[in-house]
Amino acid sequence: MLHSTRILLIIGGGIAAYKALDLIRRLQDRGARVRCILTAAAQKFITPLAAAALCGERAYVDLFDTESELDVGHIRLARETDLVIVAPATADLMAKMRGGQADDLATAVMLATDRPILIAPAMNPRMWAAHATQRNLAQLVADGVRVVGPNSGEMAERGEAGVGRMAEPGEIAAAAEEVLRGHGSLSGTRVLVTSGPTHEPIDPVRFIANRSSGKQGHAIAAAAAAAGAAVVLVSGPVDVADPPGVSVVKVETASQMLEAVKRALPADAAIFAAAVADWRVEHASANKIKKQQGRAQRLELVENPDILATIAGRKNGRPRLVIGFAAETENVIANAKAKLVKKGCDWILANDVSSQTGIMGGDNNAIHLVTASGVESWPPQSKDAVARTLIGRLAAALAKAKP
Ligand code: CTP
Repeated sequence: MLHSTRILLIIGGGIAAYKALDLIRRLQDRGARVRCILTAAAQKFITPLAAAALCGERAYVDLFDTESELDVGHIRLARETDLVIVAPATADLMAKMRGGQADDLATAVMLATDRPILIAPAMNPRMWAAHATQRNLAQLVADGVRVVGPNSGEMAERGEAGVGRMAEPGEIAAAAEEVLRGHGSLSGTRVLVTSGPTHEPIDPVRFIANRSSGKQGHAIAAAAAAAGAAVVLVSGPVDVADPPGVSVVKVETASQMLEAVKRALPADAAIFAAAVADWRVEHASANKIKKQQGRAQRLELVENPDILATIAGRKNGRPRLVIGFAAETENVIANAKAKLVKKGCDWILANDVSSQTGIMGGDNNAIHLVTASGVESWPPQSKDAVARTLIGRLAAALAKAKP
């Protein structure tokens, strides 16, 4: 909840600005008092009157407006708040923030504030992927700015889809709570996450793989970063975008993943969400294997190292919290309990990956959290929501078990 918190909402100029009006309501529903600043570009999409009507006080628009400068002034706007939210954060606003520009009310306030800033980027997928935007984002994260989204999906422009949709108002409000919730924060901690499938080569053109999309692991890395952790994400080949503010190490095989994980340690917590291939071809062929007149090719398989068990079993340098997944198609909880013991980890997130559940590759997940003290079944929810729930639990557990 955001009871009696003061939020300064800076609305940037993008089509997602209309969702900022809904965000005002969502924040108020959680008990926050919201003040708004609209950039000049935002006013091309929504009016100060609409924002003011929802906030119950005037919306601020102009750095050189005598009335508002005499009323509160930009320094008071910057200080009389607990959190600044920028939604939508356009590519232009992010560039200005990174450069420390202060040529309008929104940017001057952001430069003058000493309160946390949470941005909800929204832009065309190509603008989001542009090197300049990603450079600006990395610097903003390094400066301590928190980020929520963007999500992937349909854009306002017909036929355009990809990463760039502003996070939904409910998600932004939840992220705001996370930023403001002292005990849930992972500031000052290091978190390691594995994600995606591994590809085990058969020959130069073929490999063994699985249906993992990397969505759940990447969402966990993003949620950990949003909670302030320094995150290393070791990922197999996936189509999902690198989460903002996360250091990503890309690998192909299980052996490479194990090496990358070892290099990324030490960490306070490690979450093994990757669907690591259990076997690799013992002798991958250097040349493409040709058909042999109707005779079937036989592949000799050998077992891959178990990355989770290797790290959980470490005598020295074991992360304080080691978390694994159990992808099961039957006896989900019994198998997960057995895995907890066999792998020596602290928690297992078990899920049913039978094809009819749509979990493998899909956007939703239904988790059973298995620990030494019991089993807790979470309601089906989006993989992003699972990630936020897990990170909240993890932050609480790390705070309890401070070294
Ligand atoms: N895991 C790992 N390295 C492996 C295999 C699995 O780190 N070589 C991790 C996964 O990231 C996951 C957990 O172990 O966190 C369980 O993975 P899962 O595929 O469910 O189990 P398996 O170890 O493959 O066991 P089984 O084949 O019996 O289901």
